Amino acid sequence: MTNYELLITQMRSLAEGDRNWLPILANASALLFGTLKQINWAGFYMVYHGTDEDKLLLGPFQGKPACVQIARGRGVCGSAWERDSVINVADVHTFPGHIACDAASASEIVIPLHNEAGAIVGVLDIDSPVPARFTQTDSDGLTQFSRILEEIADFP
Ligand code: SME
Repeated sequence: MTNYELLITQMRSLAEGDRNWLPILANASALLFGTLKQINWAGFYMVYHGTDEDKLLLGPFQGKPACVQIARGRGVCGSAWERDSVINVADVHTFPGHIACDAASASEIVIPLHNEAGAIVGVLDIDSPVPARFTQTDSDGLTQFSRILEEIADFP
């Protein structure tokens, strides 16, 4: 079982001295990927305000190369963005519109990230090759971890 208290302490110390979101999320993806058991991808998609439609763009991550753009409401990430809520998917094959970046992924959890004004700036996405990998304890721990990222990083 993941020790989320320790993970948060490590995250705080990794971020010491700089509030820029990019290195903080780069270190966060490395910390999560190196710590959580039975996962095959950990990273971020960031909201990009384009000239036409807003979309999610691939941000710092660890794991196999992933799809670059995700439209609002598409897949688990786009749905978590649209609903502004955590989505914990026990079986990705049953999630309508799930975007399969890696055929090995079986379950997934996505947590929205907000700036100081409360607007969503991106999502944390973690994939697992194990069905129903993420328990309520993981969901609570990763939500707490995301709140710490919002506290220690300055987002656009
Ligand atoms: N499966 C995600 C897409 C991103 S990859 O998992 C890295 C989704 O459905 O939004």
